[in-house]
Amino acid sequence: MLNQPIRPRRLRSSNAIRNLVAETTLTPADLIMPIFVKDSVTDKEPIFSMPGIYRHSIQSAIEQCKRIRDLGINAVALFPGIDNSLKTPQANEALNINGFYYEAISAIKDSNPELLIISDVALDPYSSDGHDGLVRGSLIANDETIEILAKMALYQAKAGADIIAPSDMMDGRVGAIRNTLENAQYHNTLIMSYAVKYASSFYRPFRDALESAPKKGDKKTYQMNPSNKKEALKEAKLDEEEGADILMIKPASIYGDIIHNIKKETTLPIAAYHVSGEYSMLKAASDKGFLNYETILFETLLSIKRAGANMILTYGAIDAAMLLNNKKII
Ligand code: PBG
Repeated sequence: MLNQPIRPRRLRSSNAIRNLVAETTLTPADLIMPIFVKDSVTDKEPIFSMPGIYRHSIQSAIEQCKRIRDLGINAVALFPGIDNSLKTPQANEALNINGFYYEAISAIKDSNPELLIISDVALDPYSSDGHDGLVRGSLIANDETIEILAKMALYQAKAGADIIAPSDMMDGRVGAIRNTLENAQYHNTLIMSYAVKYASSFYRPFRDALESAPKKGDKKTYQMNPSNKKEALKEAKLDEEEGADILMIKPASIYGDIIHNIKKETTLPIAAYHVSGEYSMLKAASDKGFLNYETILFETLLSIKRAGANMILTYGAIDAAMLLNNKKII
């Protein structure tokens, strides 16, 4: 042992050495931008609880996607805003092959073939009850819902979606979707399952964006209890066995322990969804002048990668990619 002081600060003494020894890095290629599309919108429409995020027309979404691709982001997650007049208890519009969402997927795919499209499978955007599954009395009908979800997934794949993302949390839906895709020869369509999705209060701005909040009750009979950690391993394992290609955990920044745990137990890539409320919190604090948006966004995303995520869905994807490309956020 040298009789000299130990100086960990040597490895922090310049930007260059800090970069060389960084254990976790963030690049635009790690990020996925969620995009809301809505039929009745001309150009784009702001969402009051999500500053900087819009409901886009197809044309506006196409332009946004070009920008996203130019920034080095590889994928977008598309969510449909469905007119309230089309919402029904059976969520019929979900299986209207000529419906707006399928049109949006194919138009966006055609205009940006290299950008991966992640499509959403759940009934809440189409359901007049605002639930992810069919409501039967006070219950959410699991198996009946899955039949619809599997068809939706196939229609989305046909429209051009690269990655099917079931966000509904019904039991057995990943297996049903995988079977349906295989039987229809969609062997290369990926499934990113919302494997571990907690019943979180942080989804509220998303529900504002789609006007999709549950009319009655909550989502606690299908989404997970935030108290539970072991159960997350069960959900992740089941989705892996049923044929998921990528496992998603959400929310992200306040569930780092869960991301870390699942990363240890699986060989599948992990996605984490930095959800609407997690984004809006950062925006609100910076709009008030309490915190700096750019630095807290960066630090938050870094923490999600450090926890073990390979990729992050975040409404700050464009902003973070601009920062990483040394451009000012516009
Ligand atoms: C619904 C769905 C939700 C989100 C993605 N898909 C909300 C919910 O479960 O109520 C949340 C995403 C976010 O908050 O950004 N299928």
